[in-house]
Amino acid sequence: MTADEELGTPPQTSPPTGSDVDPLELDAGTMRELGYRIVDLLVDRIGSLDETRAWRGASRAEMESRLREPPPDRATDFDELLRRLASDVLPFAGHHDHPRFFGYIPSCPTWPGILGDFLASGVNTFQGTWLQSAGASTVELVVIDWFRQWVGYPGQASGILLSGGSQANLTALACARETQPGGRTDNAVVYLSSQGHSSVARALRVLGFASEQVRALPVEDRYRLRPDALAAAIENDVRAGRQPFLVVANAGATSTGAVDPLGEIASICAEQSVWLHVDAAYGGFAVLTDRGRSLLAGIEQADSVTLDPHKWLYQPYEAGCLLVREGPLLSRAFHIMPDYLQDTAVGGVEVNFADRGVQLTRSARALKLWLSLQYFGVDAFRAAIDRSLDLALLAQERIEASSELELLSPATLGIVCFRRRPAGVVEEGTLERLNSDLDRRLAESGEGMISSTRIDGRYALRLCVLNHRSRAEDVERVLGWLERAPLPS
Ligand SMILES: Cc1ncc(COP(=O)(O)O)c(C=O)c1O
Repeated sequence: MTADEELGTPPQTSPPTGSDVDPLELDAGTMRELGYRIVDLLVDRIGSLDETRAWRGASRAEMESRLREPPPDRATDFDELLRRLASDVLPFAGHHDHPRFFGYIPSCPTWPGILGDFLASGVNTFQGTWLQSAGASTVELVVIDWFRQWVGYPGQASGILLSGGSQANLTALACARETQPGGRTDNAVVYLSSQGHSSVARALRVLGFASEQVRALPVEDRYRLRPDALAAAIENDVRAGRQPFLVVANAGATSTGAVDPLGEIASICAEQSVWLHVDAAYGGFAVLTDRGRSLLAGIEQADSVTLDPHKWLYQPYEAGCLLVREGPLLSRAFHIMPDYLQDTAVGGVEVNFADRGVQLTRSARALKLWLSLQYFGVDAFRAAIDRSLDLALLAQERIEASSELELLSPATLGIVCFRRRPAGVVEEGTLERLNSDLDRRLAESGEGMISSTRIDGRYALRLCVLNHRSRAEDVERVLGWLERAPLPS
C-alpha cells in the first residue's frame, strides 16, 4: 500500500469499541506522513509567494458557502482536508509574509521560528510554572535577558513573553497601577501621545481609567510627542491637585514610525516620579542596528518597554514581550498562590511565569525565538532590519522624485506615508477618494498591498517595509503601480 493510499484511509469509520482502543492515536508512520504533507504545503507556499496574490478577500456569504457545515461525526481523509484548506481557507488572507505586502505591519517569520512553534505545540509544555517547565522557562529567561541587553536595561530587569504588543501594553500598565503609589486612585493621570496605539487606550479602559484621567498630548511636525507639552500638562495637573502617574511614549508610532524624544521624556518622568512606559512594539528591535540604536536612545531609562518579536524579529504570531526595569515589580503585581498550585511554589531564583502576567497556561513561546536566533545568529537579523531601513529610504527617494506622488511623512523605521497627487488636483475630498480607491484597487489587483492612515487629518497611503523577503524591485513594483494606475475621469 502506498503512503497516499494509507493516508486516504480514515483511521476510524465507526466508533471504537473496547476500553483499550485509543480513538485519537495514530501510528508513527501516519504521524510522519501527515507532518510531511504540512511541511510540503508550507515550503511550496513560501516558494511561490512571489507569483501569488498579496491579498485575497471574500464576503462572509462566500466564505460561509465554502465552509459552513455540521460537525463531522466520522473521520475525513487528511489529503482531502488539506485540499479544502488550500482552496477554501488559506488563500483568503492578507499574506503578511508576501514580498509586496507593505500594509499595516508585515510579518515574515523565519523557517526555524515556524518550526519552533510546531515544536512547542508538539511537546505542549505547560509553561506557567517552573515545576512543569524548567527547560522552557530557562530558555525564556535566556531570551528575555538577550532582549534586556539589547534595550540597555540593567541586570535586575525582568520580563515575560506574551501574545503580542497589546497584551504587553496591558500588562505594563497593570503592573504600574498595582505597584506605584496612587495608581489605583481616581486622581491618577495618564499622558499619551496623540499618535499612541489604540491598544494603550484599550488597556486603560480595561484597567478602569476614566477618560478624565487620560491626556492625549500634541506632537511636533515629525509626529513626536512634545516634551514641553508633557511638562506643561503635568504641571497643570499637579497644580489642580491631581497625581501624574504614567506616561506612554512611542518608539515607532504605528502611523509614521515616529520615535518620541525618549531621553527628554524620561527626565521629566524621573523628576515627577511618573512611570514611563515605552511602546516599542513596532520599532523596538531596530535597536539591533546602529541607526535604530541612535533613534531609540533613552529607551533604557523607561520603567517598562513593550517589544513585539512577531513584527521586526521575524517570529510567527503570537510573540510579544514586556520588559520591566525593576524586575521584581512584575511578580509583585501578579503573584497569587492558590491552594491547588501549592506544589509549584518557588522560593529562590526559579520563576513561575504565571506570576508575571495574567496567563496561567502558557505555551513555550521562547522556543521559536531561541531556535531562530541561534540558527541564524543575531547578525543576520541585524542585517535584515538594516535592509528594511534602506528600502524605506529608497521608497522615500522614489516618491520625492515622482511628479505624481507626494511625500506626507518621511521614512522612519521602515514606514513612509504619501499619496497620489495628480497635477491640478488640490481638493482634499477628491484626493482622499482618489487615494482610497487606489489603496483598494492595488489590493484587489493582487500585485501588492499597502494600507492607509491620516497625517495631520489628511488621507495618506502608508507603506511599511518590514519583510526580510522584500527587495528594491518589490518596492518599485508597488510604487510604480500606484503612480501609473489609471484614474477615473
Ligand atoms: C506601536 C504599537 N503598539 C502596540 C501594537 C499592538 O501589538 P499587537 O498587534 O501585537 O497586539 C502595535 C501593533 O500594531 C503597534 O504598532
